[in-house]
Amino acid sequence: MKPFHRVVFGDCRTMKEIPDGTIHLMVTSPPYYNAPFDYPDLFENYAEFLQLVRDLSKDLYRVMAPGRIACFVTDDMLVKGQKYPVVADTTRLMLDAGFRYRDRIVWVKPKGYVRISRRSGVVIQHPYPMYYYPDNIQESILVFQKGKFDYSYLRGLPAKDLEKSRIPIDAYNGEEWALTVWNITNVLPMGQRLEKGIAAFPEEIPKRLIRLFSFHGETVLDPFLGSGTTMKVAEELGRSCWGFEIDRGLEKIIKLKLASSRQSRSKIEFLFRSDTNKFRRLARGRMKSPSRTIAR
Ligand SMILES: C[S@@+](CC[C@H](N)C(=O)[O-])C[C@H]1O[C@@H](n2cnc3c(N)ncnc32)[C@H](O)[C@@H]1O
Repeated sequence: MKPFHRVVFGDCRTMKEIPDGTIHLMVTSPPYYNAPFDYPDLFENYAEFLQLVRDLSKDLYRVMAPGRIACFVTDDMLVKGQKYPVVADTTRLMLDAGFRYRDRIVWVKPKGYVRISRRSGVVIQHPYPMYYYPDNIQESILVFQKGKFDYSYLRGLPAKDLEKSRIPIDAYNGEEWALTVWNITNVLPMGQRLEKGIAAFPEEIPKRLIRLFSFHGETVLDPFLGSGTTMKVAEELGRSCWGFEIDRGLEKIIKLKLASSRQSRSKIEFLFRSDTNKFRRLARGRMKSPSRTIAR
């Protein structure tokens, strides 16, 4: 089957457009809970954020194929002096939805290349105990699985697809994919970049996950599509992709990103739900006084 790419502008709490058990891999990064740089005051409170993850996890269980993998790129968030345990809570919610917890990979960003204030500098000013707050240069890639994978599946795959799914062992060893720590440069959503104002992840993350957890010709999902990074990489790797995005304003960005794909042969279909709103406008309304002090 020729790869397809479908973007649904709507809330991913329900993904009714996707038939049951048809997604082979999810790769996503939910909005960072009230992140001071990206989403200040977006959620009324932490419970509202957790409800979004809870609702998504339930419908996600329905759409995932048996034995398959769902990955969240996420992080604990420090907001107005309080640290929120997003990683632990997301893990709990996914377990509650029926998934198995398979792994946590730590994505480490380059030192000195982060959008954070130097919290650690407080110790320089006050070189005494209790002033220590480290600068955060990592995020978590949480890996969940719907039951167990039946490896006899590989025997039923066309030889051509299996060959195209081969993991590049040079990169696996050379770039240390084999470890639970991945050193990858982050995307700075600034300047003239397509991802300006979107907390996009680097292509390298979906690239590794798609290669490690899906076969050529299969279907990937990103329920928080943003600028379309997952879809672009899926297309380049010969996978189909569903994306959900609540902000209709990102249609142009997604089109541009897909057009920059090396393949860009397949058509993208855009579906607009009646519940779609201009998320960014809504978000801006909610974001009262963006604090610029601490970010992820
Ligand atoms: C962290 S960004 C994802 C960035 C993406 N990984 C990329 O590389 O561009 C999260 C996205 O989720 C979208 N979003 C927030 N709530 C949503 C919801 N309920 N349903 C669908 N999308 C939502 C936001 O508009 C934002 O674009």
